[in-house]
Amino acid sequence: MAQEISAAEQIATQFKEHSVAEFFKKNMQMLGLTGKIKALTTIVHEYVTNSLDACEEARILPDIEVQIKELGDEYYEITVKDNGPGMTRQTVGKALGQLLAGTKFHRMMQMRGQQGIGAAGATMLAQITTGKATQVITGTGSGKALSLDITVDPKKNEPKLANMVELGKTFQGTIIKAKFKGMKYVNSEQAPLEYLRRTAIANPHAQITLIEPSNQKTVFKRTLKEIPKQPLEMKPHPKGMNVDELITLAKYTDSKTVKTFLKNTFDRMGDKAADEIGKHVSFDMNKDPKQITWDEAEEIIKQFKNINFIAPRTDGLRPIGEDRITKSLTSIVKPEFSSVVTRKPTVYSGGFPFQIEVGIAYGGDAGKGGNTTNEEGVVEKKMEIMRFANRAPLLFDTGGCAITKAVQSIDWKRYNVKDVENAPITVFVNLVSVHIPYTGAGKQAISDEQEIMDELRLALMDSGRRAGAFIAGKKKEMEKKMKKELFFKFIPEIAAALEKITKEDRKKTEKNLEKLVLEKLKLEDESDEAQQIEEEIKEASEKVRKNEREAKKKKKEAEDEEVEE
Ligand SMILES: Nc1ncnc2c1ncn2[C@@H]1O[C@H](COP(=O)(O)OP(=O)(O)OP(=O)(O)O)[C@@H](O)[C@H]1O
Ligand SMILES: [Mg+2]
Repeated sequence: MAQEISAAEQIATQFKEHSVAEFFKKNMQMLGLTGKIKALTTIVHEYVTNSLDACEEARILPDIEVQIKELGDEYYEITVKDNGPGMTRQTVGKALGQLLAGTKFHRMMQMRGQQGIGAAGATMLAQITTGKATQVITGTGSGKALSLDITVDPKKNEPKLANMVELGKTFQGTIIKAKFKGMKYVNSEQAPLEYLRRTAIANPHAQITLIEPSNQKTVFKRTLKEIPKQPLEMKPHPKGMNVDELITLAKYTDSKTVKTFLKNTFDRMGDKAADEIGKHVSFDMNKDPKQITWDEAEEIIKQFKNINFIAPRTDGLRPIGEDRITKSLTSIVKPEFSSVVTRKPTVYSGGFPFQIEVGIAYGGDAGKGGNTTNEEGVVEKKMEIMRFANRAPLLFDTGGCAITKAVQSIDWKRYNVKDVENAPITVFVNLVSVHIPYTGAGKQAISDEQEIMDELRLALMDSGRRAGAFIAGKKKEMEKKMKKELFFKFIPEIAAALEKITKEDRKKTEKNLEKLVLEKLKLEDESDEAQQIEEEIKEASEKVRKNEREAKKKKKEAEDEEVEE
């Protein structure tokens, strides 16, 4: 009799292993590579962020050219050329043909890319929509440049290389050319042109050229010749560690003892802290770190929690800076007024340093729209929020992003912006971090970590307050102008009437009345000023009183402690 097979055995016949490439091939939406407009912009984003990262690391002023050609219905060829450091024969295949491979994922360093998926995801999309390989030319500046065609083998998540040849000349940089179907080039707020405009605003040291399918060429010229200071690679902070991560780090360390491993691997870990840990663990700190067990790692983590480490280092972050943002906004948005705030760096849960920059631009080309006018003939504008993460623009998943949520949580009326949604305002926000907490692998929205939300709100309130003061001043100036015009309109009539009664010369009365109106308007200004001074004094004295109360409280606590001792 044939032996019956169990359900588990039956199901087991379907058991298979899959590679990460197979997973993403089935879930392209997770990489932002679905949707006709979104996919096209995302590909430009992946290539351009890679070029900027590579130039930054190699200390090169970036010169990037993006060309998009329409080859047929919903069929495009995208070419991105940079003057970066190029890639070597050994790495180029894996860099563009293997998912989760690259130079960034394992480093705690502020860079635009952080996963090792972007470029290879694009290579895979090209091959599954057109059957064609991605063509690459790359050169390091010395030796002959290399030309090759790359595809991904999704089953193995390995690169497949073809037509590799050495070119006859040297070249420094990388040219990537790939074809895609199922896309659409439109001129919208989410299109490559706007993406690159924003990239130029956040990267004034980069020269970026776009050639659109219509052959229209736009050059965003560099407004700054200085390469931004290089971000520093940072070490993980002990407070953000867990047992599993500690064991993984220990496995790959070159250190010979647990003590040196701790000192070399972690931020803020000196001899004193390492010795303190040594006193409380059950094993010898001279042990080979590769041999530590789960229980021993747990003991170390317990000590990490007990020791009062200094907060993580934050000096490796590189914000754009208030001056540079102001310069960029002035040259590209041309506002009447801008107010930029760069907050001090701080840390979010897990021990990751981050820093927020906010710029508010008002008037000029600030805000969205501008092609329509309202009933009074005033150009209609809407508020525009420009979101950036490590200087890379975020154009999609707007609603789910911490930046949008923070902007929406501000009571803009307090800053004299009555109808913020319909104001000529551009709000520029850049979050820099060694690890941006994206909500998904598509890297389009930032998760609303509490510390990030708090810093965003403080920066928005600070620059909002200054912008509000400008808007209030502008409003007052307009009101004054209207009042003056109104009074001046009636002066000739009044002067003429007075001439009839008093026989006083009409022209002379007109002059006197004009002088009177101007004096009256000036007095209004002065009384406003007095009121402002009064408010400032009130605010300052409240602050002093608060400080006094706190000092008194502290003193009392100190005295109580002394008594207890
Ligand atoms: N234009 C380029 N010049 C030099 N190196 C590059 C270039 N483009 C890609 N690379 C290399 O290829 C690697 C893989 O790029 P990829 O975009 O897939 O991942 P990533 O940039 O590391 O992270 P992310 O998935 O977040 O973009 C990079 O880490 C980098 O080392
Ligand atoms: Mg990348």
